[in-house]
Amino acid sequence: MSARRKLVVGNWKMHGSRAGNAELLRGILAAGPCAAELAVCAPFPYLADVATALAGSALAWGAQDCSAHEQGAYTGEVSAAMLAELGCRFVIVGHSERRALHRESDLLVAEKAAAALAHRLVPIVCVGETLLQREHAQTEVVVQRQLGAVLALLGERAREIVVAYEPVWAIGTGRTASPEQAQAVHAVLRAQLAAATGQGASMRILYGGSVKPDNAATLFAQPDIDGGLIGGAALKAADFVAIGRACP
Ligand code: 13P
Repeated sequence: MSARRKLVVGNWKMHGSRAGNAELLRGILAAGPCAAELAVCAPFPYLADVATALAGSALAWGAQDCSAHEQGAYTGEVSAAMLAELGCRFVIVGHSERRALHRESDLLVAEKAAAALAHRLVPIVCVGETLLQREHAQTEVVVQRQLGAVLALLGERAREIVVAYEPVWAIGTGRTASPEQAQAVHAVLRAQLAAATGQGASMRILYGGSVKPDNAATLFAQPDIDGGLIGGAALKAADFVAIGRACP
């Protein structure tokens, strides 16, 4: 039995509305407590609403990105300090959609993780290979390079991060990594975390990519899978709660 508490995080991406979010959060809260830790990562404009709705509850919340910069002339960016002031606990950094659509480099992702930690936010650092990279047997090289950039910049501070393995080919496709495929990559990542921080055994590594209520339990039963980062299924309270409850 692992000492790591399971964590299930909903990444709402660019979905929602004030009324819709309120209903979704009500639905999640109405389901009552869960053995796993649950959190939702909302779009920036909704964070204040989410903070109010979740005040005093066990449901944590966070953002989907932050700036690598402390403050200044960075139009459109949101700093880690701003998120911390609002009461954010988590911030996703390096999601594959940002790496692909906004050309975020491994170094930039590492700098964002550092900015988050400097303000006591927990960065959820995403790594993952494309289908082409998997087909060329590059999976380990790619995820180790992505995580390696973060570990090189953070050093021992990396003990505070959460890692999310999200194979790009499994995101939003309905094509989930098999529990064995995911476990194999998680084991590689944990060994890398252990070598860099000396505390790999206590760090959480989430799986993301088409996690649904019917496949969550077998994924979360793997020894190195400590929960999930959930996209589409996090937009329905019943599905999100069912995934949270699928944690052993
Ligand atoms: P889906 O669960 O919709 O595949 O999205 C996964 C994801 O990208 C979470 O960050």
